[in-house]
Amino acid sequence: MPRNNFLPQFPYDYLGAKAEEYNELQWMERNQKKTTLECVEYLFDQKLGPTDIKDFSNYLILDLGCGTGFSTEVLIDLGFNVISIDILMDMLEKTYHKKELFSDMNILELILANMVNLPFKPSTFHYIISVSAYNFITYKKTTQSEIKKTLDSTANYLNKCLKKNGRIVIEFYPNTDKELDLFISSFTANNFDGYFIKNNPNQKGGKTFLLLKKVDNV
Ligand SMILES: C[S@@+](CC[C@H](N)C(=O)[O-])C[C@H]1O[C@@H](n2cnc3c(N)ncnc32)[C@H](O)[C@@H]1O
Repeated sequence: MPRNNFLPQFPYDYLGAKAEEYNELQWMERNQKKTTLECVEYLFDQKLGPTDIKDFSNYLILDLGCGTGFSTEVLIDLGFNVISIDILMDMLEKTYHKKELFSDMNILELILANMVNLPFKPSTFHYIISVSAYNFITYKKTTQSEIKKTLDSTANYLNKCLKKNGRIVIEFYPNTDKELDLFISSFTANNFDGYFIKNNPNQKGGKTFLLLKKVDNV
């Protein structure tokens, strides 16, 4: 999602006029929509195990950090039932205004919420995706232990929100291999199996997809 290697700053790049600007950028819309399609493809990656999905309208998916709705629009167009959350009203309200333009064949709920404190019951979702937003959950966490605690409790709750055999794909931008390891270990410590894919494997940070499957303790 960054252009010219500048990562956006949360929350400043998503407030007021910046939120307007984000919503108007055609390259951003193209980029977010393309990445969302990649996330959906990765949800059904054979390496996570076989699936037999024919009709997305039988499934409920959570869009974490939906912003102005580019990712949500793709999920709706594919036929999913969608719950989308964002922490900033300046961004979420733009998704709200687009809602009437989206297909009304499926469920779409928009919720102002923090992905670190999700307001959902256990076993709610079949799938979860997050496009260019998960980095920001460590905002204002400065010490290593604060960061680890936030990552762990978020991964733990995401696990609870998923139904049996549920899957998550997170596209994000770790700054270093160490940061990537921290994010991955928060999931493996909380009953997820999975792996990551980088668009450019030689790049230390950069665009990364985490492909995760809930491990059910029978
Ligand atoms: C790149 S933008 C939106 C990307 C979105 N997928 C789209 O299609 O427009 C990242 C979003 O993450 C949201 N965000 C950041 N931290 C969050 C948090 N803790 N909980 C929920 N949303 C958050 C921001 O408000 C921002 O709207």
